[in-house]
Amino acid sequence: MPRLVVVSNRVSAPVDENVASVGGLAMALSAALREYSGIWFGWSGETAETFTGQIRMSHTAGVTVATVDLEDQDIQEYYNGYANRTLWPLFHYRTDLTAYERSFDVGYVRVNARFAETLLPLLHPDDIVWVHDYHLIPLASELRRRGCMNRIGFFLHIPWPARRIFESLPNHRELAASLFDYDLVGFQTRDSLTAFQDYVVQTAGGELAPDGTARVLGRSVKLDAFPIGLDASAFADAAKGKTAATWSERMTVSQAGRRMIIGVDRLDYSKGLEERFLAYEQFLATHADAHEQVFMLQIATPSRDEVDAYQDIRARLDAVAGRINGAYATVDWVPLRYVNRAYRRDELAGFYRSAALGLVTPLRDGMNLVAKEYVMAQDPTDPGVLVLSKFAGAAEQLADALLVNPHSREEVSDAISRGLAMPRAERIRRWETLMQNVITQDVTHWRDSFVHALEASPNASSTPA
Ligand code: G6P
Repeated sequence: MPRLVVVSNRVSAPVDENVASVGGLAMALSAALREYSGIWFGWSGETAETFTGQIRMSHTAGVTVATVDLEDQDIQEYYNGYANRTLWPLFHYRTDLTAYERSFDVGYVRVNARFAETLLPLLHPDDIVWVHDYHLIPLASELRRRGCMNRIGFFLHIPWPARRIFESLPNHRELAASLFDYDLVGFQTRDSLTAFQDYVVQTAGGELAPDGTARVLGRSVKLDAFPIGLDASAFADAAKGKTAATWSERMTVSQAGRRMIIGVDRLDYSKGLEERFLAYEQFLATHADAHEQVFMLQIATPSRDEVDAYQDIRARLDAVAGRINGAYATVDWVPLRYVNRAYRRDELAGFYRSAALGLVTPLRDGMNLVAKEYVMAQDPTDPGVLVLSKFAGAAEQLADALLVNPHSREEVSDAISRGLAMPRAERIRRWETLMQNVITQDVTHWRDSFVHALEASPNASSTPA
């Protein structure tokens, strides 16, 4: 069996994979690698005075992790800059928050070149290289330039935006062209796949073959959608474990007979938290009978706090949460419990299980694994209801949730009301269909479909550039 070499910006040591703040990517990758002999390569999360390319290797829980430090200018231009001030907002349709600075482009390409230089000596000829997410789009080009002939695949964890949005990037042509140095490019959803295909045909003047290959100026790449899933058996174990049970009981006591609505997110403007709070405020304003009977627990784990848009959203959420509680709280009822810290997966599983309603309402999201975790943690005899944004990638698979437009306060407020009133038989019927999807389309299925498609794809390094 060939080795699998996974490359991502964020590398989490398997010990901290249980912490929610690491995000869906790191969770999924540590699960994906566990059964493969291979390497996980990426940034250590540390800053060095100057970049040395020195690799730190560690072996934990069957995974070999190889990391490098980056220098401060790299972090500013590549991570805080191009990745999180340019690509992240743009790919989440926030052109208003997108920065278009040339120094960010330069830093982005420099770090990708540094990753390629450092990674290349670790590669064996038969290794399969699997690159992840928007931080590393040009990595294959940098590897090929240095003579790498391995099979290389790319998976984008976030949405690929509509053509006109992507075109607002000054170097959109170079960035899109660099995807043609991969053998396979995978997206989370059909929606992202067709957006990229549209760009290939309409903007780049390319064509699509019936087998899913895109061709532009004699270069080709295989494209497909591979929706990511949960590490279902590990999450099921966590949900059945002692910690989850303890927390579920503790929450039940703290609920004092009131029904709980839960939201769990990284503190990110793409998650629609402000809109969610406003929708909940609308619900409170129009459902006096729910006062003192219901409350919302929103866990929002701080993230990317050096980026101004994240500082702004945090301040806005503080203000809206304070306003809602100021207006509606009574001496023994707090309608919104707003918590800015990270919890372990097994603790979250306990919270999810005691919540009557899961509110997952991002304005845009590549997939959203919280929606799937909420489903997985439910009691099969008395499951809660999932309210899910139609703009989360998960909505393509979880059609039996209550799908909402997260921009509409009224629609979300109505869904909260409908979800809380839903008869048990309907809750069970919907949950069973959702659960079936979460279990079968899990992380192993995702990894195996991607790796098999990559192995089967024609090798791009053998086609002329
Ligand atoms: C999303 C991205 C990941 C990222 C994670 C956490 O899930 O798709 O690539 O790792 O957010 O963000 P951070 O900036 O802390 O790595």
